Amino acid sequence: MIRVLFVCLGNICRSPMAEVVFRHKVADAGLSAAISVASAATSNWEEGNGPHEGTVAQLKAHGLPSHGLISRPLTAADFSQFDYLIGMDQQNVRDMQKIAPKGMEGKCYRLLAFTGKEKDIADPWYTHDFDQTYKEVDEGTSALLNYLKSKV
Ligand code: 4NP
Repeated sequence: MIRVLFVCLGNICRSPMAEVVFRHKVADAGLSAAISVASAATSNWEEGNGPHEGTVAQLKAHGLPSHGLISRPLTAADFSQFDYLIGMDQQNVRDMQKIAPKGMEGKCYRLLAFTGKEKDIADPWYTHDFDQTYKEVDEGTSALLNYLKSKV
């Protein structure tokens, strides 16, 4: 089993969107038994809260569910539970590496790196552009799945 954890600042906009979109792609590829998916936050600011209405609207527009998504903070224990901890921007990756137990920092990635681009997914909490977020999450999760297909 390959275990993937998407991570962003609040775990209410980008990482829950990536979780649902990627899980759907994994299922379409017939890989649900081989790849597990979850998400978490580098902060505890939104702990216990459901996804942002902008994320819910994007998922709905693409025929995807958003039930059961609850923000929770990333912990050091997640580095034992997951194989790929995937941040949305460079600051997420820096914060994740600070939470990582010593020697496990190498499990941290930035999502769009799988597309070959050194690029952040901007935070829609600030940009309000959830269309752009969805486009980039879609692009990044497709590239990630392509990458992981060679590992399952
Ligand atoms: P996210 O967006 O990291 O994509 O979930 C944010 C959500 C909440 C906050 C910041 C970013 N906040 O400041 O509460």
